[in-house]
Formats: sequence, C-alpha cells, structure tokens
Amino acid sequence: MVSRVIPVDPFDLVVFGATGDLANRKILPGLYRRFFSGQIPEGARIIGAARTEMDTAAFRAHARAAIDEHVGAGKRDAAQIEAFLSILEYVPIDAMGEGGWNELKALVRPHLINAFYFSVAPALFGPLAERLHAFGIATSQARIVVEKPFGRDLASAKVLNTTLAEHFDETQIYRIDHYLGKETVQNLMAVRFANILFEPLWNAQFVDHVQITVAETVGVGGRGSYYDKSGAMRDMVQNHLMQLLCLIAMEPPYHFDPDAVRDEKLKVIRALQPVSAADIVRGQYLAHRSDDGKGHQPGYLEDAENPDSRTESYIALRVHVANWRWKGTPFYLRTGKRLRARTSEIAITFKEPPHSIFDEADETWRENVLVIRLQPNEGMNLKMMIKEPGPGGMRLVQVPLDMSFAEALGEDGADIPDAYERLIMDVIRGNQTLFMRGDEVEAAWAWTDPIIEGWTARGDRPQGYDAGSSGPEDALMLMHRDGRRWREIRE
Ligand code: BG6
Repeated sequence: MVSRVIPVDPFDLVVFGATGDLANRKILPGLYRRFFSGQIPEGARIIGAARTEMDTAAFRAHARAAIDEHVGAGKRDAAQIEAFLSILEYVPIDAMGEGGWNELKALVRPHLINAFYFSVAPALFGPLAERLHAFGIATSQARIVVEKPFGRDLASAKVLNTTLAEHFDETQIYRIDHYLGKETVQNLMAVRFANILFEPLWNAQFVDHVQITVAETVGVGGRGSYYDKSGAMRDMVQNHLMQLLCLIAMEPPYHFDPDAVRDEKLKVIRALQPVSAADIVRGQYLAHRSDDGKGHQPGYLEDAENPDSRTESYIALRVHVANWRWKGTPFYLRTGKRLRARTSEIAITFKEPPHSIFDEADETWRENVLVIRLQPNEGMNLKMMIKEPGPGGMRLVQVPLDMSFAEALGEDGADIPDAYERLIMDVIRGNQTLFMRGDEVEAAWAWTDPIIEGWTARGDRPQGYDAGSSGPEDALMLMHRDGRRWREIRE
C-alpha cells in the first residue's frame, strides 16, 4: 500500500507556548514528521511564541532537541531536520501585555492560511484572542486551536466560549481532543459506516453491552498538583471517553462533514442519563514497595502532595444512552492511572443467538465480541464461534479473527501518524470534523457537573487500589452485579 500525502497550502502557524511541554513532546516533533513526509509545502512557516526571551537561533536549537528526543531514528535525517528548522521563527511575547505583538504582526503573512495554536494555560485563551484581534493580526479567515481543559465545569466552559466568540466565529475555533486524532478512533467511523456488516446489529436488540477502557501505567507524579484539581472524570471522561462513546453510539451522519458529525455526537451527549451513585466507582492508587523492600513508588496522595485528597485517579461508570437505539444496553466506562498495562480499547459484546441447535453449545458458547484496540497494537479483533477442528463430534470453540493494522497495512500500518500530526494538518486544511464544537463541550459538562457535585456533596472517598492492578475491587462489582465482567487489562 502506498501512502498518500496530500500537501496543504502554504501557511503561517503560530504556536503560543512554543517552549512548553506539549510543544516539546507533540507539536514540534509532529510538525517535523509531517515535514519529513512531504506534507508541509514550500513557503510555510512555523512561528514559536512564548514568554521566554530567546532568539530564533535558540528556538531552533530547542526544536532540534525536541526532535532528537521524540522522533524515531528512522525519520531523523540531518538534511531534513536542517530544512525543517529553517522554517521556524521565534518571537518572545507577553500574553497579558503589549510586548512582542507588533513583532508578531510583522511576521504573519495575512494572505496565507494563518493558524494560532494556544498551547498555553486556559487563563490565557481570552487575552491571546483579544490581542490577536486588537493588534490586527488575526483576519476573519484565521483559525485558532485551543487545548483542553476547556473549562472545569459548565459555567467556566460557557465563559470561555463567550470570550472566544467575541473575537472569532465558531468556524474559526478548533477545540482539540487528541483522542479524535488517533487513527483507530477515526477507524471506528469507517468500520461502522463504510461496512454493511455491523450496522444492522448495532443497537440494543443485538448488543448486550459496551466496555470502554483507557488504562495507563503512569501515575500523576510531576503534575500532581494540577491533576488533583481535576481527577479522572474531568481529565479523561468528560472529553476522551465521552468522544469514544459518541462515536460508538451516534446515528449515521448524512455526510462525513463537520457539522453533520458533530450534530450526531451532540445528540448522544444530550441523551446520556444522569448517573446514580451506585453506578460510579472511584479509586486512588496506593503506594508500592518492591519485593526486596528497597524501591518505593509513591501512592496518589503523595504524588498529589495532598494527604487529604478525595480526587480520583481511577473511575468506572455505568452509563445509559436514553434513546431508541440504545435503551437497555449499558455502556461501562473506566479509566485510571498506574494500572496493570497501558491499553485503550472498546469492546462491543453481542447478545447470544436466540436458539442453539448444537447440543454442547450451552456449555461452550461464548459471546461474539468486537474489540477495537486504540493503543498499543492498533487493530480489531472479532471473537467468533467455530467448530473445533478434528474428529470428536460438533464441538464449538471461540476464536479471534484478528487484524493488526501494522500487519494488514504493511509499512503504512506500522507508521501510524500521531494524533497531533493529523489534527494540526486538519486545522490547516480548514476541516473541523475531528474538533469539538462549543455546544458539544457545554453539553458534556452539563452531564458531568451533577456527577461530580453528587460525590462532592456526599463526601465520598475514592477506594485505594494497588499500583499495577486492574483498579479498585468495587469496580469489579459494578459489572458482577449485572452478571458481566470486565475484560482483562493487558497489552
Ligand atoms: C491527556 C490527559 O489528555 O491524555 C492525561 O490529560 C493522559 O492525563 C493523556 O495521560 C492520555 O493520552 P494518550 O494519548 O497517551 O492515551
């Protein structure tokens, strides 16, 4: 299979927060990889802007270090890196003041595509938007890209939306949820809407339940004090897991078009029922001491630097989508830090056939499960019943029909672009399909807020769980009491 790289038109991309962690790990290395693939056209320019006083040469050195650290050796070509660095510029800027804005204006070429990436703290979104406008830098064609968290509740998200709307039209605002840029997440839509096979079964009549798991092995050390104000519900569920749920549960849009897709996702979010306390399990990882007693890995409370913290590093929820398609099919969501393995997957478990014609089937029968693996080893797996090979009568056995994208797609599959690469190029192309619309974010908070308010008012404490485990014991019960069980967390 030959990769198709569709070049974009020349652009000026300004990255605010260009010396920050996200720019370092994702944005600059991602842009370099797109450059290496030949997607960034001649004449394009990337302008770093941040508070740090440095000149363009120093910024290029900074970007080189980021590439060295975060780009695989196979793509680190000396000549390509030099060529990429030559399209970088830098302006020191004072987001809250006047410094640097005229210099930035002199650099941005308004006749090209202009995009402004706000890779900064949300408190700066408003000031940046205002100054881009006041200094006459952003034209009516310019795009802004804003990172999560987009607010911490409905009220703050509304304020942010209103502030941005004072200076930019909704068609110019790209709210990033990097999960939407993951290749397999987009594949969810292809699997559902480019095949006839699953869609007739994709409803409560045939689907027993859905599990969405995003498990991480990392803790929150290093960003504990930020994380402690957020927790797994705000950090992961309100955005990433909710987006996954939307893509599974939504109706077919009439076209793969930004508003058609986002209208359907919004309907799902609005159909989410409130979640009762019995359908929520929260946890905090415990400290871990190695067997020899020497190594100590801090627990959540230590990482969060808050011994009284009630913030969750793990959450599991049973969620219902109250509409015709899904009435009666629960969606179980879970995500957590310091779990057994880093793995993200969606598993759709189908119901049993209405009648078995095989005598032994009652004992051996297992459900059909479609597993979509988001990471690692992106791929799909469909568990099916077949006859066990060989003599001995009609014995049934469950086997996986396994498709790894890396194997199925050869070189292209092994070289799946990072979510940020895809999303930044979509901004340049002016395609908002994989970005959240303002009303979508607000609806997500409107569902999330009462859940958080509920446990805060009750004074619930998260349950401790062992580092390296599958999460708190109570999470098992959340499914056991429904006669179901979680899939094992493993790579
Ligand atoms: C971020 C969260 O949005 O997503 C992090 O803030 C989390 O806490 C990360 O670790 C997970 O992203 P990925 O792409 O590694 O699954």
